[in-house]
Amino acid sequence: MDTLHIIDHPLITHKISMLRNKDTGSKEFRELVQEVATLICYEATRDIPLSDTTVDTPLGETAVKMITDRSFGIVPILRAGIGMVDGMLRLMPTAKVGHIGLYRDPETLKPVEYYCKLPVDAPSREIFIVDPMLATGGTASSAITFLKEYGVKNIKLLCLISAPEGVKKIQEDHPEVHIYTAAHDECLNSHGYILPGLGDAGDRLFGTK
Ligand code: URA
Repeated sequence: MDTLHIIDHPLITHKISMLRNKDTGSKEFRELVQEVATLICYEATRDIPLSDTTVDTPLGETAVKMITDRSFGIVPILRAGIGMVDGMLRLMPTAKVGHIGLYRDPETLKPVEYYCKLPVDAPSREIFIVDPMLATGGTASSAITFLKEYGVKNIKLLCLISAPEGVKKIQEDHPEVHIYTAAHDECLNSHGYILPGLGDAGDRLFGTK
């Protein structure tokens, strides 16, 4: 089963190209990240089942289909994942938002959780982990492991740009997790940045460089 979904759409491609441009400032960058997150969310929710029900139109009762038996959670990986949350909430306004922060221990090189606040009913929700850049995949893989340990069974990973190395890591560690990406780039450089990528997503979102 191929779990990698590269979303091919002119609007997304155009917006990703604007994000790559180093001259795109933080305000526009933030808006574009939200817009692309909304478009990725649209694709990543394509398989949600609909239930038969009825509504009263002004002219009488009619049979309709609605999403009735799913609840959702959005979990941004701190800090850049926060930039995607509002774009996701635009399509899923009732979703609960959890946060997870991980850093790499300089000695063991293992990811360590430094912050985690999840919805109490996260295990019964479909969880969308969001992080703009899937680079080595180490952080995303640890976040997925953490959510699984918490009891979450239904997880999707959404990013703006992925690298082959990160996709491989997720597919090896979590073969059932589907990855939705707006662009799939060539490789990582020696510092773990995606090439050509868009630079440091967190710095560009929050203007910290
Ligand atoms: N994180 C980023 O923000 N950018 C990259 O290219 C890789 C990881």
